[in-house]
This record gives sequence, structure tokens and C-alpha cells, in this order.
Amino acid sequence: MNAKIGKSEETILKQRHFRTIMRTEAAIIKAILAQGWAYPEMLYIDCNAGPGTYLLNNQHIEGSPIIALEEMIAADIPFKAHLIEIDESREQKLLQVVNQRFHCPNRVRIYLGDSNEILSTIKCQESQFGILYSDPNATCPGIPALRRWYRDSSTKRIDWLLHIGFAGIKRAVDVRCQKCPEFKGSLHHCFAGIKKHLSVQQEARGCWQWTFLLGCNDDILNRKFSSIGFVNGKDAETCLRDLSQIKSRIGSSQHKGMDYEPGDLFVN
Ligand SMILES: C[S@@+](CC[C@H](N)C(=O)[O-])C[C@H]1O[C@@H](n2cnc3c(N)ncnc32)[C@H](O)[C@@H]1O
Repeated sequence: MNAKIGKSEETILKQRHFRTIMRTEAAIIKAILAQGWAYPEMLYIDCNAGPGTYLLNNQHIEGSPIIALEEMIAADIPFKAHLIEIDESREQKLLQVVNQRFHCPNRVRIYLGDSNEILSTIKCQESQFGILYSDPNATCPGIPALRRWYRDSSTKRIDWLLHIGFAGIKRAVDVRCQKCPEFKGSLHHCFAGIKKHLSVQQEARGCWQWTFLLGCNDDILNRKFSSIGFVNGKDAETCLRDLSQIKSRIGSSQHKGMDYEPGDLFVN
């Protein structure tokens, strides 16, 4: 595990990998739509949308909603995007950035609020494909809401992607998270509650153990991401168990459960 990686490097790497994942998803879904049987619109849900663009250590960062919209537009695929952000100033910034850069108001809906509540209002069609992305700060990724959403059979073709810092979650859960009693057991067990073929980026980064988890409908898709360090099947299970068990190496003097405060990350 690379423990030296800084938040800036981690964010740049995260966004690069996210772009690869979105590009691959859009290409595969486009091929499925060409077969003519699936609902003709890719669904993208961003549970932690952020402000769209921001500065991090003087570097301009494109946020996940921008990357996702760019990739779906570049793939020339019909889509519907639901972007959820709880902080009003970031939601306003996102609105501004999306309106400036994209001209598809009917395809993008931006929500101000808690994705744990808003998610249940987002419906999809039985044969619809897409991806749901959850990228909270190093806090609980809202697994109960995700599990509820995935209980509906219409969501079964929507892949899910989590960017999580395992150390932060363990700490947040230990310290203050009342929402996910499942976490008191094992993270691995908790994720297994969502019935998907699970793959995980094996190399967790930094002392916060940042990594991506991807739950796909189809095992074939999982294998597409080996070039960015994903493992699946038994290897993914082992990896998740190890990440769940490893002791947090963050000192108790540091603030608990957060890699960075939002104000720290979103300078602009
Ligand atoms: C790590 S940032 C996400 C960055 C974004 N995915 C990107 O790539 O730019 C986490 C964001 O989630 C928002 N957030 C935290 N909890 C949330 C919740 N329950 N519902 C919606 N947004 C939330 C925070 O305000 C913050 O803007």
C-alpha cells in the first residue's frame, strides 16, 4: 500500500480512473443500446456531486459530474444525469458550471439535498443501464440507502461505483456513525448486501486507504478494469476483507473520520 500519497495526487488519480470507468461504461452501454432491446437512455447518478470544478493545491480539477457528462456526450449516447449535492454553495456552483459548459438542460437534473433521501425518488426503467457513483468524503457512503435503492428490480442493471477511504470509514463508524449498524460487523459483509459482481482496486492509496469499489451486473465488465488495478471474484473478496480488517494508522490527535474538510478541498 502506498502510504505517502497526498490528497492532491490521490484526487488527480481518482479523477483519471473515474474517467476511464465512465468512458468504458458509456462505450459498453452504447453497444447494448445498439441491440435495440434496452431502455434507450443511459442513467448516471452522482450521490456526491460537489461543485463541478475546483482548485486543489492550485491545480484545476474537473469534478465527477463534469467528467461523466463529457464522457457520455463524447460517446454520443442518450443519457439522463441526476446530480445530488448537499451543500448549497457547491450546488449553485455546479449549476453554473453545468449550464456554462453543456447545453442539455433536459438531460441533467441537479438536486440540493441529502442523497440518502433523494435517491429513493429517482426511478429507472426495467431495462435501463447506467451507473450510480458515490464519492463521499471519508465518511459513511450511505450503504443503507443504496441497498434500499437496489432492492427495486428496475435498478438491477445500474452498476455502482464507490470511492471510499476505508480507514476514514472505519474511524467514522467507530466514532459517530449511527446510520449503518451493518458496519459494526464487517465492511465486506455490508457491501455484499448489494447483489453485484464486485471488484475492487487492489492498491488502496495513502494512509486513508482510498480505493474504488465497483459492482457490476456482468462479470465481463469487471474484467475490463484490470488495467487500472481492479481485481474481482475471490481476489476482490480477499482484498475487501483485508481492507476491512487492517488497523487505521491515523493518529487520534487528528480529526476523526475526515481526510479533508470540504472547505479545504473546494478552494474555488
Ligand atoms: C469528495 S466530495 C465529491 C467530489 C465529486 N465527486 C468530485 O469528483 O468532484 C464529496 C461531496 O459530497 C457532498 N456530500 C456529502 N454528504 C452528502 C449527502 N449525504 N448527500 C449529497 N451530497 C453530500 C459534500 O458536500 C461534497 O461536496
